[in-house]
Amino acid sequence: MNVKDGGASDGRTVDGVKQSGDEGALDRALRPQRLDELIGQNTVRDNLRVMIAAARARGESLDHVLIHGPPGLGKTTLAHIAGNEMGTAVRVTSGPAIERAGDLAAILTNLHAGDILFIDEIHRLNRAVEEVLYPAMEDQALDIVIGKGPSARSVRLKLPPITIVGATTRLALMTAPLRARFGAQLRVDFYPVAAIELIVARAAQLLNTPLDDDARSEVARRARGTPRVALRLLRRVRDYAQVKGDGRVTQALAVAALSLLEVDPLGLDDIDRRVLCAIIEKFNGGPVGLETLAASISEESDTIMDVVEPYLLQLGFLDRTPRGRVATARAFAHLGLAYTRTEQGQLGL
Ligand SMILES: Nc1ncnc2c1ncn2[C@@H]1O[C@H](COP(=O)(O)OP(=O)(O)OP(=O)(O)O)[C@@H](O)[C@H]1O
Ligand SMILES: [Mg+2]
Repeated sequence: MNVKDGGASDGRTVDGVKQSGDEGALDRALRPQRLDELIGQNTVRDNLRVMIAAARARGESLDHVLIHGPPGLGKTTLAHIAGNEMGTAVRVTSGPAIERAGDLAAILTNLHAGDILFIDEIHRLNRAVEEVLYPAMEDQALDIVIGKGPSARSVRLKLPPITIVGATTRLALMTAPLRARFGAQLRVDFYPVAAIELIVARAAQLLNTPLDDDARSEVARRARGTPRVALRLLRRVRDYAQVKGDGRVTQALAVAALSLLEVDPLGLDDIDRRVLCAIIEKFNGGPVGLETLAASISEESDTIMDVVEPYLLQLGFLDRTPRGRVATARAFAHLGLAYTRTEQGQLGL
């Protein structure tokens, strides 16, 4: 199964829309609204709690926050929670959606004091737009150039105090001056299985789905430490239990549904396995460059980098070396293959 085709809310679509139709509505209903409802990410939550409490006590707007980390771990959720906790509106946009400096200027001048502007995929802002953001973040000002050529002059407009919340899966692609303007940089990380279990339990309750404890663990273990994946798997096992059983999700039904989805006991799916198999079989265990690897399995390098690699690195199945990606002995073992990489290969010679 190619998971990329599996549904709009599976988090595998790196560009474009992730949520659509009923599942999008369902996701919004399941999304935690307040810090107290947030499960896991304790460091991020505690940092936000302090920043929000301090800003509120001083009657100021929240400092600019940059949230980074792999897809599906709660960056967008946290931005909305920040708005709810501050009691302010959250305007949503994204790096690729703001094409020209004037587009950003229009957005900024329509904000009210205290509002949050959430810029998703902020690493994809272009340079001209970024330059409008600098004075807005630093001096609450908008510099507008009037006229052209020798008679052009710059006029500075005052903006209300606003908060920029940026989200990115690619911190490394952000320019240093933009990063430096954020008062806090928070990293969301993969969730431990115990936290995912709590998220699955909460969602099952909200969906009125009876879920056995061992079925819950089964789903959580295969969710690759990612709430979005956990919720997607829960919806699929729920469907399966409704069609093949009486609606109650037992462990046997969960295992059968997850096998049908080709999600293995560690949460690897078709694309993960294709990446590992390609490194092992086509490139002798590596090292192989990202672009070559992507081309060899007809996937986009962005998908591999954003979605596949972080989890394989976390599992210790993949190493990143200066010469490219390398499959580890663990990866071979998981796929039931003998570890055949030569010393030369390991040294990247
Ligand atoms: N801590 C959490 N507790 C419960 N549900 C969560 C939590 N974090 C995220 N979710 C759920 O997981 C899904 C994905 O979260 P979200 O959209 O915030 O991820 P993201 O980091 O913004 O992903 P992307 O990088 O793809 O934009 C949402 O449906 C959200 O409700
Ligand atoms: Mg998001």
